[in-house]
Amino acid sequence: MSQSMLITLSVDLGPRSYPILIGSGLLSQPMILEPYLKHRDVLVVTNDTVGPIYLAPLRSLLSKSQVSSFSLPDGERHKTMAAVNAVRDALVAGRYGRDGVVVALGGGVVGDIAGFAAAIYQRGVDFLQVPTTLLAQVDSAVGGKTGVNHPGGKNLIGAFHQPLCVLADTDTLQTLPDRELSAGLAEVLKYGLITDVAFFDWIEAHTQSLLQRDPAALRHVIRRSCELKAEIVAQDEREQGRRALLNLGHTFGHAIELHAGYGEWLHGEAVAAGTCMAAAFSQRLGLIDKATVERIRRLYSRLNLPVDPPPVDPGKFLAAMGMDKKVVAGQIRLVLLDRIGAGRITADYAPHDLADFLREQFVR
Ligand code: NAD
Ligand code: GLY
Repeated sequence: MSQSMLITLSVDLGPRSYPILIGSGLLSQPMILEPYLKHRDVLVVTNDTVGPIYLAPLRSLLSKSQVSSFSLPDGERHKTMAAVNAVRDALVAGRYGRDGVVVALGGGVVGDIAGFAAAIYQRGVDFLQVPTTLLAQVDSAVGGKTGVNHPGGKNLIGAFHQPLCVLADTDTLQTLPDRELSAGLAEVLKYGLITDVAFFDWIEAHTQSLLQRDPAALRHVIRRSCELKAEIVAQDEREQGRRALLNLGHTFGHAIELHAGYGEWLHGEAVAAGTCMAAAFSQRLGLIDKATVERIRRLYSRLNLPVDPPPVDPGKFLAAMGMDKKVVAGQIRLVLLDRIGAGRITADYAPHDLADFLREQFVR
């Protein structure tokens, strides 16, 4: 592959800065990971679906290292401490030292588990992300959030731990199931909604190319999403402020995932319906008009994503929303919209408003 096809972005975090490498054919570039691994021992963590397809090509990039692999069962319901413990045990059994490197090969579930195991093994070893879903390439592999679910809430247990490098080979998206591609597009649209109306317009104009996996269209959205995410993470690594914008639709969405049972709704699907709920609540507070809400719903539908949650039990749903990591002093802070391209983080609404909103609009 010519170097001109390789996109290199940077997440600027001082001594923890790292590159995001995006391109077609990266898993056949023999030397591409050398600068980050430097002959160190590697544990590749993958899963039973991705490993059979991409472990062999990845191994061929690691020929200068001692490499073992560990395969997790596939699925969001396995994003648990048990999975983290299994990776931890593989690291101990392999006698990895502090100079060992964990390489996460897979979607967001593998990346979150492997990254968390790397964060806690020997108080932290290096890790590297090789994301193979659209969602992971545009979001979860970048930014250093790692962790697992708890029966009481989504992603409740975890750590910030930045990778050494993110290697996103866009060719891997050709084997992704359609439903997973759409789930990734939900997170892509999020960036347009919170911060870049031109990006939203572009996605609106290119839904068919995206759904047909046109390489240039996918490359564009991966690049733009990573640029926007890298900029926000560089400003606010530990989510003290602006980074919370990246959670548009997630407070509602996490409650949907928990309500439905982890894995029943894909994360991106829950984010899509959750974002439509956030848009509708923004309209209720007078921030945006009905036409804007309809425009957002229409685009999610065209991307084959759900725009409404399953029937809601308001009490249970609110309790789930109350476990969100953005809750401060018992008040649920929400990411809402001032317009397309401008998100806001706010707790400026009457608590009964949210309960009334859920009861009036979503109890069926
Ligand atoms: P996933 O990891 O479950 O992957 C989706 C499915 O696609 C799985 O069955 C997987 O095995 C399969 N798959 C992966 N790559 C494939 C490929 N190239 N070809 C064929 N099949 C492939 O789901 P996801 O959507 O990647 O990630 C969702 C998870 O990411 C959620 O747990 C969510 O909470 C988390 N997340 C984390 C962050 C973060 O900042 N850390 C951000 C967003 C989402
Ligand atoms: N996906 C939200 C974040 O990384 O902050």
